[in-house]
Amino acid sequence: MTIMTKFFNRITMLVAGSVFIMGTVGAQVAFGPVTGDAKKGMQLYYDYGCYGCHGYNGIGRQNLANDVSGIMFNETVFLTYLRAREDQNPLFPTQSMPNYAAASLSDNDAKNIYAYIRTFRDEPPEVEDIPALKAILDAAENN
Ligand code: HEC
Repeated sequence: MTIMTKFFNRITMLVAGSVFIMGTVGAQVAFGPVTGDAKKGMQLYYDYGCYGCHGYNGIGRQNLANDVSGIMFNETVFLTYLRAREDQNPLFPTQSMPNYAAASLSDNDAKNIYAYIRTFRDEPPEVEDIPALKAILDAAENN
């Protein structure tokens, strides 16, 4: 495990920890407010190449839909996460995700992207609703 991975794991755990505490106090985890424009964010999500690793709908190499790590629960945390690589930790840029410093991606645009990602939902259909899979299941049950 590299120093950088440890660093981000620690951030993720910290954030996830506080979200967990918030979540246990209120029955459900409360998402923070969205101040950006999801429609503008959609274009920016493509322009900045986020889809390359996170998929067109947040399902990809690293899923963003239905986020459970805590990064997406709050706009400020999200911004910090994008910036932490360069603005706050220039010596250890991660290789797994590019740096998005304020100089290349403004706060406003980052908030628009945040708003767009918050619209993602990972809702795969039930197996029973896909005829081909249902047929396979039925056939297996009849054996
Ligand atoms: C080259 C691939 C790549 C690109 C491009 C990329 N990411 Fe990522 N992203 C990752 C990987 C890999 C992770 C997992 C954490 C890590 O290794 O840093 C991640 C993690 C994240 C997370 C945290 C997810 C979580 O809850 O654990 C968010 C939010 C995120 N990326 C947003 C973005 C946004 C917004 C963009 C575009 C501006 C973007 N990413 C572009 C690879 C990428």
